[in-house]
Amino acid sequence: MAALRFDLLTLFPSLFDGFLTESILSRAIEKALVEVNRWDIRDWAQGKHKQVDDRPFGGGPGMVLMAPPVVSAVEAVQALGERPGRLIVLTPQGRRLDQNLVQELAQESRIVLLCGRYEGFDERIFETLEPETLSIGDYILSGGEVAAMAVVDAVMRLLPGVLGDAESAVDESFGPDGGLEYPQYTRPRTYRGRDIPEILLSGNHAAIARWRREHRR
Ligand code: ADE
Repeated sequence: MAALRFDLLTLFPSLFDGFLTESILSRAIEKALVEVNRWDIRDWAQGKHKQVDDRPFGGGPGMVLMAPPVVSAVEAVQALGERPGRLIVLTPQGRRLDQNLVQELAQESRIVLLCGRYEGFDERIFETLEPETLSIGDYILSGGEVAAMAVVDAVMRLLPGVLGDAESAVDESFGPDGGLEYPQYTRPRTYRGRDIPEILLSGNHAAIARWRREHRR
């Protein structure tokens, strides 16, 4: 059994196709380090038209995700497997994702991610399911799918065995603006007249470490 099971609930499961079949994540899935299941919310919709969204009461623009199919989908998926897992709705109104939260999520054994579309969710979805809410930043995406991919990507790369030694996450330190703290270089040694810092060729590991500390940003 995988160390961490993700369940993604969405109206557009195929948006995750490339994400799940390319690169590090697909290797992690193959190695059974992580399991990712996709679920189409529309499969829980009622009626001939399998309707999942409708106009907002009181008027206004856009469409709102209906409570019955969404709640039924989440409850059915959570009932599968041994534990319901941590239920998270992706929404720009949610708690902001940062590396601390990513580290916390990497300790979980099951995470259920609910992706919205359109103008939002019927409020009773939140009242009934009492999910956590999570945002990947102060901007509006057209749906939660891209945000869910960010969560899965950031979390899975912290799971033991997912990254090889070469790409290990251990040495990563996040500066005030995130990312690696020091400038990095690879071949060629000279590019458009710009040479790499000579010290990096010295083989003097203490000196290189000092240079990197001094060039933290
Ligand atoms: N859905 C739409 N925009 C979003 C955002 N910024 N974060 C998470 N989910 C979203």
